[in-house]
Amino acid sequence: MARFDITIAGELNLDLIHYGVPGELVPERELLADGMTLTLGSSSAIVAHNLAALGTRVGFVSCIGNDPLGQIALDRLKEGGVNVSHVRKKDGAKTTGLTLILQHGKWRNIITYPGTIFDLTVDDLDLSYLADARHFHLSSFFLQRGLRGRILRLFQKMKSAGMTTSLDPNDDPDDVWDGDLREILRFVDVFLPNEREAKKIAGDDDLEIAISRLSQMVPILVVKRGADGVLAQRGRERFFSPALRLGVIDPVGAGDSFDAGFLSQYVRGVDLPSCLAMGNLAGGFSTTRSGGTEAFRDRAYREQFFRSQQDQ
Ligand SMILES: Nc1ncnc2c1ncn2[C@@H]1O[C@H](COP(=O)(O)OP(=O)(O)O)[C@@H](O)[C@H]1O
Ligand SMILES: [Mg+2]
Repeated sequence: MARFDITIAGELNLDLIHYGVPGELVPERELLADGMTLTLGSSSAIVAHNLAALGTRVGFVSCIGNDPLGQIALDRLKEGGVNVSHVRKKDGAKTTGLTLILQHGKWRNIITYPGTIFDLTVDDLDLSYLADARHFHLSSFFLQRGLRGRILRLFQKMKSAGMTTSLDPNDDPDDVWDGDLREILRFVDVFLPNEREAKKIAGDDDLEIAISRLSQMVPILVVKRGADGVLAQRGRERFFSPALRLGVIDPVGAGDSFDAGFLSQYVRGVDLPSCLAMGNLAGGFSTTRSGGTEAFRDRAYREQFFRSQQDQ
């Protein structure tokens, strides 16, 4: 039996979220926010944390700087139940990355200092550790610059080890959307972009055309659409699952939480509509507290939420 249900290789850092920021960021003025949270960030780490919170056995490979913010991020993952034995601390000038999120009512600015995010290389990957699982997941494809060029081989290896795989591209900071992503998709079982990313990668602004193109490349395509829920395409079959209606604190990490909810069921062999429904539960739940993991790390709150949803 494999040691883990899911292994993930990717970035690990914190999010610093400011709420109630003025719409216009006037230079040289002292601008006031009315709320702040420093919390676990990074798509890969949020997926890992929330999968573990949902009872999935998760192994995580990453690198951080030898600094306090990296340590806080690492501790959060560990407390969440993720195996962090293969997270490396890199001594050197670079610190752990940090994402600054300025939440202005319904929209936000997102500024990432990459730090050690770009320093995760193939030398950091213990392939036997990553392959000791039933499923491999990669998030933030365009941020894995130290791995780029090697990701195709990585997916090939995980597939040849008999594992299923998933990929969440997230945003491309360069807005170029190329690379060997299309090649890699040949080795991906579940592709999890949001609507904007799906259109960018497919090279068409029409969602139906984007779905038609991308769904020919992967067995299961899931397109996340925020408060509008998700669409999924499996061959000729179309599925839809609505988002929950909740009081939203922020949507930070909602897509990553969706991935965690979906994958927690997928690795148990659950049918696709139920995987989508669990994705929406997890994505929605994440919006009810700050950042991507604050809701999930409150055990009593989490258990009460998922119990009450099951009863409905
Ligand atoms: N305002 C919202 N209300 C309820 N659920 C939401 C909301 N925003 C996001 N979600 C949930 O999170 C999922 C992913 O959100 P989305 O914003 O599309 O992804 P990403 O964070 O990758 O951009 C949605 O499919 C939905 O389940
Ligand atoms: Mg996302």
